[in-house]
Amino acid sequence: MTRHPVLPDGWRLVALESVGSTNDEAMKMADAGAAEGTVVWARQQTGGRGRRGRRWVSPVGNLYSSTVLRPDCPAPRAAELGFVSALAVADIVPPGRAVRLKWPNDVLVDGGKVAGILLESAVDQSGLVQHVITGIGVNVAFAPELPEMRYPGAVLGGSVEDALEGLAESLAKRLIQWRRDGFPAVREAWLAKAGPLGATVDVRLGEELVRGRFSGLDGEGALLLETESGPRRIVSGELLGRAA
Ligand code: BTN
Repeated sequence: MTRHPVLPDGWRLVALESVGSTNDEAMKMADAGAAEGTVVWARQQTGGRGRRGRRWVSPVGNLYSSTVLRPDCPAPRAAELGFVSALAVADIVPPGRAVRLKWPNDVLVDGGKVAGILLESAVDQSGLVQHVITGIGVNVAFAPELPEMRYPGAVLGGSVEDALEGLAESLAKRLIQWRRDGFPAVREAWLAKAGPLGATVDVRLGEELVRGRFSGLDGEGALLLETESGPRRIVSGELLGRAA
């Protein structure tokens, strides 16, 4: 039984059967002036994209949605919306299941990756963000196996419609929190659901592999590590351990 999902007041749903990538569609709409809260949702994607140029296998059954955001902030702050989005996904995980946020934007449930987030921004000449697309893929019905996946997949359960409604509602609330209280509040909420401080993690930075103890997030969302050779601040990389 399928039904039309209901989104928060003022939000708009663009529902598609099939599309290459909902992020591309949402970016086109945002470039043409679509308002914050425009959500592009497709039952399947034929060219779903993940981070680091990976593909995101997207058959019917899981959730693929991309939301237009207009944060009106300088470009370096756009990355904060990845943490806002990850918290919004964590909010829809049923109670009783173990949620863990993994830097920068993954959501693990019971040790498996249940959702991935692809944030893409358009920045104007003065360095202000024009719009950000937060593309969120949630394994609702099944976890596609991919050779490049470093984690087992996990499944949220329930229906795609319920997941989309819950996600839009929690994203709207988390955006209010971000605008009202700023990144410090988001960072604190994110850290409360991340791996324990002090846990040893490995981070891949291109060819380099850095091992250190997770010591938090800085005010810009960079990963902080205590390594044998001293503190390291990591802006972009891939966390290989399960902690953090
Ligand atoms: C990751 O690599 O973990 C991020 C995956 C993001 C997938 C979502 S599905 C909806 C949106 N459209 C895309 O093409 N990608 C994102």
